[in-house]
Amino acid sequence: MLVSGKDVMKHAHENGYAVGAFNVNNMEAIQAIIEAAEELQSPVIIQASQGGLKYAGVKYIAAMVKVAAEAASVPVVLHLDHGTEFLSQVQCLQAGWTSLMIDASHYDFQENIAKTKEIVEMAHQVGVGVEAELGKIGGVEDDIAVDEKDATYTEVEEAYEFVCATGVDYLAIAVGTAHGPYKGDPKIDFTRIAQIKARLNIPLVLHGSSGVPKESIEKAIAAGINKINIDTDLRQAYHRAVKKFITENPDEYDPRKINTPGKEAMKEVVKDKMRMFNSVNQAWR
Ligand code: G3H
Ligand code: 13P
Ligand code: ZN
Repeated sequence: MLVSGKDVMKHAHENGYAVGAFNVNNMEAIQAIIEAAEELQSPVIIQASQGGLKYAGVKYIAAMVKVAAEAASVPVVLHLDHGTEFLSQVQCLQAGWTSLMIDASHYDFQENIAKTKEIVEMAHQVGVGVEAELGKIGGVEDDIAVDEKDATYTEVEEAYEFVCATGVDYLAIAVGTAHGPYKGDPKIDFTRIAQIKARLNIPLVLHGSSGVPKESIEKAIAAGINKINIDTDLRQAYHRAVKKFITENPDEYDPRKINTPGKEAMKEVVKDKMRMFNSVNQAWR
Protein backbone atom coordinates (compact mmCIF):
# COMPACT_ATOMS: atom_id res chain seq x y z
CA MET A 1 0.00 0.00 0.00
CA LEU A 2 1.17 3.48 -0.87
CA VAL A 3 1.19 5.71 2.22
CA SER A 4 2.29 9.20 3.19
CA GLY A 5 5.88 9.68 4.28
CA LYS A 6 4.44 11.35 7.38
CA ASP A 7 2.90 8.06 8.58
CA VAL A 8 5.97 5.92 7.97
CA MET A 9 8.32 8.41 9.57
CA LYS A 10 6.05 8.90 12.59
CA HIS A 11 5.93 5.14 13.17
CA ALA A 12 9.72 4.82 12.95
CA HIS A 13 10.20 7.83 15.26
CA GLU A 14 7.77 6.45 17.84
CA ASN A 15 9.17 2.93 17.70
CA GLY A 16 12.90 3.71 17.60
CA TYR A 17 13.94 2.18 14.30
CA ALA A 18 14.92 3.48 10.85
CA VAL A 19 13.24 3.03 7.48
CA GLY A 20 15.51 2.37 4.52
CA ALA A 21 15.15 4.90 1.70
CA PHE A 22 16.51 3.33 -1.46
CA ASN A 23 17.21 5.20 -4.69
CA VAL A 24 15.71 3.90 -7.92
CA ASN A 25 16.02 4.71 -11.60
CA ASN A 26 14.34 1.69 -13.20
CA MET A 27 11.88 -1.17 -12.85
CA GLU A 28 14.39 -3.77 -11.64
CA ALA A 29 15.40 -1.67 -8.64
CA ILE A 30 11.76 -1.03 -7.71
CA GLN A 31 10.97 -4.76 -7.91
CA ALA A 32 14.06 -5.69 -5.89
CA ILE A 33 13.13 -3.25 -3.11
CA ILE A 34 9.46 -4.25 -2.93
CA GLU A 35 10.27 -7.97 -2.90
CA ALA A 36 12.75 -7.45 -0.06
CA ALA A 37 10.24 -5.35 1.92
CA GLU A 38 7.51 -7.93 1.43
CA GLU A 39 9.71 -10.85 2.47
CA LEU A 40 10.86 -9.06 5.63
CA GLN A 41 7.53 -7.30 6.33
CA SER A 42 9.31 -3.97 6.51
CA PRO A 43 7.98 -0.50 5.67
CA VAL A 44 10.05 1.03 2.90
CA ILE A 45 10.78 4.31 1.14
CA ILE A 46 11.43 4.27 -2.59
CA GLN A 47 13.08 7.48 -3.68
CA ALA A 48 14.14 9.05 -6.95
CA SER A 49 16.43 12.03 -7.40
CA GLN A 50 15.84 14.72 -10.03
CA GLY A 51 18.45 12.86 -12.09
CA GLY A 52 16.38 9.71 -11.70
CA LEU A 53 13.26 11.56 -12.86
CA LYS A 54 15.14 12.91 -15.86
CA TYR A 55 16.34 9.41 -16.74
CA ALA A 56 13.10 7.45 -16.28
CA GLY A 57 10.37 10.10 -16.32
CA VAL A 58 8.22 11.26 -13.39
CA LYS A 59 5.13 9.44 -14.66
CA TYR A 60 6.99 6.20 -15.37
CA ILE A 61 8.46 6.07 -11.86
CA ALA A 62 5.10 6.95 -10.30
CA ALA A 63 3.25 4.32 -12.32
CA MET A 64 5.74 1.56 -11.56
CA VAL A 65 5.87 2.33 -7.84
CA LYS A 66 2.07 2.55 -7.62
CA VAL A 67 1.67 -0.87 -9.27
CA ALA A 68 4.28 -2.36 -6.94
CA ALA A 69 2.89 -0.66 -3.81
CA GLU A 70 -0.72 -1.59 -4.51
CA ALA A 71 0.23 -5.25 -4.80
CA ALA A 72 2.32 -5.10 -1.61
CA SER A 73 1.00 -5.63 1.91
CA VAL A 74 3.67 -3.41 3.48
CA PRO A 75 3.60 0.42 3.70
CA VAL A 76 5.47 1.98 0.77
CA VAL A 77 6.41 5.66 0.42
CA LEU A 78 7.32 7.32 -2.88
CA HIS A 79 9.78 10.09 -2.08
CA LEU A 80 11.58 12.81 -4.06
CA ASP A 81 15.27 12.81 -3.08
CA HIS A 82 17.18 16.14 -3.04
CA GLY A 83 14.51 18.16 -4.83
CA THR A 84 16.01 21.53 -5.64
CA GLU A 85 13.60 22.69 -8.37
CA PHE A 86 10.10 23.96 -7.58
CA LEU A 87 8.89 22.39 -10.83
CA SER A 88 10.07 18.92 -9.76
CA GLN A 89 8.14 19.23 -6.51
CA VAL A 90 4.94 20.17 -8.34
CA GLN A 91 5.37 17.44 -10.95
CA CYS A 92 5.90 14.85 -8.22
CA LEU A 93 2.80 15.98 -6.31
CA GLN A 94 0.76 15.82 -9.51
CA ALA A 95 2.04 12.32 -10.26
CA GLY A 96 1.12 11.01 -6.79
CA TRP A 97 4.34 11.21 -4.78
CA THR A 98 3.70 10.79 -1.04
CA SER A 99 6.84 12.48 0.30
CA LEU A 100 9.09 15.30 -0.91
CA MET A 101 12.56 16.46 -0.02
CA ILE A 102 13.31 20.13 -0.51
CA ASP A 103 17.06 20.54 -0.51
CA ALA A 104 17.86 24.22 -0.13
CA SER A 105 20.86 23.48 2.09
CA HIS A 106 23.24 25.30 -0.28
CA TYR A 107 21.36 28.58 0.33
CA ASP A 108 21.84 30.70 3.44
CA PHE A 109 19.77 29.94 6.53
CA GLN A 110 16.90 32.37 5.88
CA GLU A 111 16.65 31.41 2.22
CA ASN A 112 16.63 27.72 3.18
CA ILE A 113 13.76 28.48 5.59
CA ALA A 114 11.79 30.40 2.94
CA LYS A 115 12.21 27.72 0.24
CA THR A 116 11.42 24.89 2.65
CA LYS A 117 8.32 26.64 4.02
CA GLU A 118 6.95 27.13 0.52
CA ILE A 119 7.11 23.36 -0.17
CA VAL A 120 5.80 22.40 3.29
CA GLU A 121 2.73 24.64 2.84
CA MET A 122 1.99 23.14 -0.56
CA ALA A 123 2.63 19.48 0.33
CA HIS A 124 0.66 19.60 3.58
CA GLN A 125 -2.46 20.64 1.65
CA VAL A 126 -2.54 17.11 0.24
CA GLY A 127 -1.16 15.17 3.22
CA VAL A 128 2.32 14.70 1.77
CA GLY A 129 5.29 14.65 4.18
CA VAL A 130 8.33 16.88 3.67
CA GLU A 131 12.04 16.41 4.40
CA ALA A 132 14.48 19.32 4.37
CA GLU A 133 18.24 19.51 4.84
CA LEU A 134 20.18 21.71 7.22
CA GLY A 135 23.96 21.78 7.22
CA LYS A 136 25.95 20.58 4.22
CA ILE A 137 26.43 16.85 3.61
CA GLY A 138 29.69 16.04 1.80
CA GLY A 139 29.93 14.43 -1.65
CA VAL A 140 28.03 14.80 -4.92
CA GLU A 141 24.31 14.58 -5.54
CA ASP A 142 22.83 15.58 -8.87
CA ASP A 143 24.65 18.78 -9.88
CA ILE A 144 25.60 19.82 -6.34
CA ALA A 145 29.09 18.90 -5.18
CA VAL A 146 30.17 19.57 -1.60
CA ASP A 147 33.86 19.14 -0.85
CA GLU A 148 34.63 17.30 2.41
CA LYS A 149 36.27 20.50 3.68
CA ASP A 150 33.13 22.54 2.91
CA ALA A 151 30.75 20.10 4.60
CA THR A 152 29.27 21.81 7.66
CA TYR A 153 27.65 20.06 10.60
CA THR A 154 24.08 20.87 11.61
CA GLU A 155 23.87 23.13 14.68
CA VAL A 156 21.35 22.13 17.37
CA GLU A 157 19.79 25.55 17.98
CA GLU A 158 19.69 26.40 14.29
CA ALA A 159 17.92 23.10 13.64
CA TYR A 160 15.35 23.95 16.31
CA GLU A 161 14.72 27.39 14.83
CA PHE A 162 14.54 25.88 11.34
CA VAL A 163 11.93 23.28 12.25
CA CYS A 164 9.79 25.80 14.19
CA ALA A 165 9.92 28.26 11.28
CA THR A 166 9.19 25.77 8.49
CA GLY A 167 6.96 23.06 10.00
CA VAL A 168 9.02 20.45 8.14
CA ASP A 169 8.16 16.83 9.07
CA TYR A 170 11.62 15.22 9.02
CA LEU A 171 15.07 16.71 8.88
CA ALA A 172 18.25 15.56 7.11
CA ILE A 173 21.25 16.50 9.23
CA ALA A 174 24.95 16.76 8.43
CA VAL A 175 26.81 14.70 11.04
CA GLY A 176 29.85 13.33 9.20
CA THR A 177 28.52 11.14 6.40
CA ALA A 178 29.07 11.90 2.71
CA HIS A 179 27.47 10.78 -0.55
CA GLY A 180 29.28 8.15 -2.61
CA PRO A 181 31.96 5.61 -1.67
CA TYR A 182 34.13 6.23 1.43
CA LYS A 183 37.90 6.03 1.46
CA GLY A 184 38.04 5.20 5.19
CA ASP A 185 35.22 4.75 7.71
CA PRO A 186 33.18 7.93 8.23
CA LYS A 187 33.50 9.71 11.57
CA ILE A 188 29.93 10.24 12.68
CA ASP A 189 29.06 12.69 15.45
CA PHE A 190 26.59 10.53 17.42
CA THR A 191 26.41 13.03 20.28
CA ARG A 192 25.24 15.70 17.87
CA ILE A 193 22.53 13.38 16.53
CA ALA A 194 21.31 12.72 20.09
CA GLN A 195 21.36 16.43 20.96
CA ILE A 196 19.39 17.36 17.83
CA LYS A 197 16.89 14.56 18.53
CA ALA A 198 16.39 15.67 22.13
CA ARG A 199 15.82 19.30 21.08
CA LEU A 200 13.60 18.65 18.03
CA ASN A 201 11.77 15.41 18.87
CA ILE A 202 11.02 14.75 15.17
CA PRO A 203 12.24 12.01 12.77
CA LEU A 204 15.84 12.56 11.59
CA VAL A 205 17.41 11.50 8.29
CA LEU A 206 20.90 10.21 7.51
CA HIS A 207 22.19 10.70 3.96
CA GLY A 208 25.29 9.14 2.42
CA SER A 209 24.74 5.91 4.34
CA SER A 210 26.26 3.42 1.88
CA GLY A 211 29.42 1.87 3.29
CA VAL A 212 28.71 3.00 6.86
CA PRO A 213 29.61 0.05 9.14
CA LYS A 214 26.82 -1.82 10.96
CA GLU A 215 27.93 -0.63 14.43
CA SER A 216 27.82 3.01 13.34
CA ILE A 217 24.38 2.57 11.77
CA GLU A 218 23.13 0.99 15.00
CA LYS A 219 24.56 3.83 17.08
CA ALA A 220 23.03 6.42 14.73
CA ILE A 221 19.60 4.80 15.07
CA ALA A 222 19.96 4.62 18.86
CA ALA A 223 20.79 8.35 18.80
CA GLY A 224 17.64 9.19 16.83
CA ILE A 225 17.97 8.52 13.08
CA ASN A 226 14.73 7.23 11.47
CA LYS A 227 15.37 7.36 7.70
CA ILE A 228 18.56 6.04 6.12
CA ASN A 229 19.38 6.81 2.49
CA ILE A 230 21.13 4.17 0.41
CA ASP A 231 22.14 4.57 -3.22
CA THR A 232 25.81 3.74 -3.86
CA ASP A 233 25.63 0.26 -2.24
CA LEU A 234 22.79 -0.65 -4.62
CA ARG A 235 24.61 0.67 -7.67
CA GLN A 236 27.77 -1.20 -6.75
CA ALA A 237 25.93 -4.47 -6.05
CA TYR A 238 24.12 -4.21 -9.39
CA HIS A 239 27.33 -3.41 -11.22
CA ARG A 240 29.32 -6.25 -9.63
CA ALA A 241 26.62 -8.84 -10.38
CA VAL A 242 26.00 -7.75 -13.98
CA LYS A 243 29.74 -7.50 -14.68
CA LYS A 244 30.27 -11.02 -13.32
CA PHE A 245 27.39 -12.38 -15.42
CA ILE A 246 28.66 -10.74 -18.61
CA THR A 247 32.21 -11.93 -17.95
CA GLU A 248 30.98 -15.48 -17.44
CA ASN A 249 28.44 -15.34 -20.30
CA PRO A 250 30.05 -13.08 -22.92
CA ASP A 251 27.64 -14.13 -25.69
CA GLU A 252 24.42 -13.67 -23.74
CA TYR A 253 22.54 -10.65 -25.04
CA ASP A 254 19.07 -11.07 -23.52
CA PRO A 255 18.60 -8.09 -21.15
CA ARG A 256 16.32 -10.17 -18.94
CA LYS A 257 19.14 -12.63 -18.28
CA ILE A 258 21.67 -9.83 -17.79
CA ASN A 259 19.47 -7.80 -15.42
CA THR A 260 18.26 -10.65 -13.22
CA PRO A 261 21.52 -11.15 -11.27
CA GLY A 262 21.73 -7.37 -10.87
CA LYS A 263 18.22 -7.26 -9.45
CA GLU A 264 18.87 -10.19 -7.09
CA ALA A 265 22.07 -8.52 -5.84
CA MET A 266 20.18 -5.28 -5.10
CA LYS A 267 17.50 -7.27 -3.28
CA GLU A 268 20.11 -8.86 -0.98
CA VAL A 269 21.56 -5.43 -0.17
CA VAL A 270 18.10 -4.10 0.68
CA LYS A 271 17.39 -7.07 2.95
CA ASP A 272 20.74 -6.68 4.75
CA LYS A 273 20.03 -2.99 5.34
CA MET A 274 16.49 -3.63 6.61
CA ARG A 275 17.88 -6.08 9.18
CA MET A 276 20.54 -3.52 10.16
CA PHE A 277 17.93 -0.73 10.43
CA ASN A 278 15.64 -2.81 12.68
CA SER A 279 12.68 -2.29 10.36
CA VAL A 280 11.96 -6.02 9.92
CA ASN A 281 8.38 -6.92 10.96
CA GLN A 282 7.57 -3.24 11.57
CA ALA A 283 5.03 -3.20 8.72
CA TRP A 284 1.46 -2.54 9.80
CA ARG A 285 -1.75 -3.14 7.86
O1 G3H B 1 22.18 11.77 -2.97
C1 G3H B 1 22.14 11.54 -4.16
C2 G3H B 1 21.65 10.24 -4.68
O2 G3H B 1 22.65 9.27 -4.53
C3 G3H B 1 21.16 10.39 -6.08
O3 G3H B 1 22.18 10.47 -6.99
O4 G3H B 1 21.61 12.44 -8.38
O5 G3H B 1 23.09 10.60 -9.26
O6 G3H B 1 20.64 10.22 -8.94
P1 G3H B 1 21.87 10.99 -8.49
P1 13P C 1 24.87 7.07 -0.83
O1 13P C 1 24.92 6.98 -2.30
O2 13P C 1 26.18 7.45 -0.23
O3 13P C 1 24.25 5.85 -0.21
O4 13P C 1 23.89 8.30 -0.46
C1 13P C 1 22.53 8.17 -0.77
C2 13P C 1 21.79 9.40 -0.43
O5 13P C 1 22.06 10.09 0.52
C3 13P C 1 20.64 9.74 -1.29
O6 13P C 1 20.06 10.93 -0.92
ZN1 ZN D 1 21.41 12.36 -0.10
